Amino acid sequence: MSAPTNSLRGRLITFEGGEGAGKSTQIRLLAGRLAQAGVEIAATREPGGSPRAERLREFLLSGRAAPLGALGEAVLFAAARIDHVDSLIEPALERGAFVLCDRFMDSTRAYQGAMGKADARMIALLEKVALGDLKPDLTIVLDLPAREGLARAARRRGTTTQPDRFEREEASFHEGLRDAFLDIASSEADRCCVVDALAPKEEVSQAIWRLVEARFLAPAARAQ
Ligand code: TYD
Repeated sequence: MSAPTNSLRGRLITFEGGEGAGKSTQIRLLAGRLAQAGVEIAATREPGGSPRAERLREFLLSGRAAPLGALGEAVLFAAARIDHVDSLIEPALERGAFVLCDRFMDSTRAYQGAMGKADARMIALLEKVALGDLKPDLTIVLDLPAREGLARAARRRGTTTQPDRFEREEASFHEGLRDAFLDIASSEADRCCVVDALAPKEEVSQAIWRLVEARFLAPAARAQ
């Protein structure tokens, strides 16, 4: 299979979901399949993805920004996103690459908006400030019960690494997050696809590949 030829511009595919949903594993697997199909990949993450945004990531995940409140934290996530979009995402899309991003604007909507109770209008404004007209072409929401995700995240951390600012939140926060991501997916069903993340990782990867192939690589998609 060859790379899409319909336009020079690439695609932005974001991965969202609660803690321990397997986003980074699935990004790695999708990147491998896309590379085999001859597509240039830029795999990245938020918060972070550029040197300046990675410094903000450290600050946010340490919990030092928490006293600012959810809206204050959202401002810092947006600042990190501006730099990430300008320095990595836009140039990659302009080159025709597929950008695979581990978390993006929907995490701000879910964590700081729905769960942090920051005013939804302010979150929408920040989104506009950070992204302008940029929107993901596809958002994969990896869905699983919060308890299972937290157990996976704890196993991944082992005994030496401390949980970060958001992993430390209570179980009810994480259950609420799951609902928040599902609400976003149903309100923007054209952009978002929910994938069952409880299934074995090869099955999850296959489901994601079918979605990406049909949308972006099938002959009909290329002709658009
Ligand atoms: P990370 O270790 O990447 O978490 P995960 O492996 O679960 O993706 O840490 C990112 C954390 O930051 C995660 O708990 C979600 C949170 N976050 C927000 O609260 N708002 C945001 O806008 C973004 C991008 C992330």
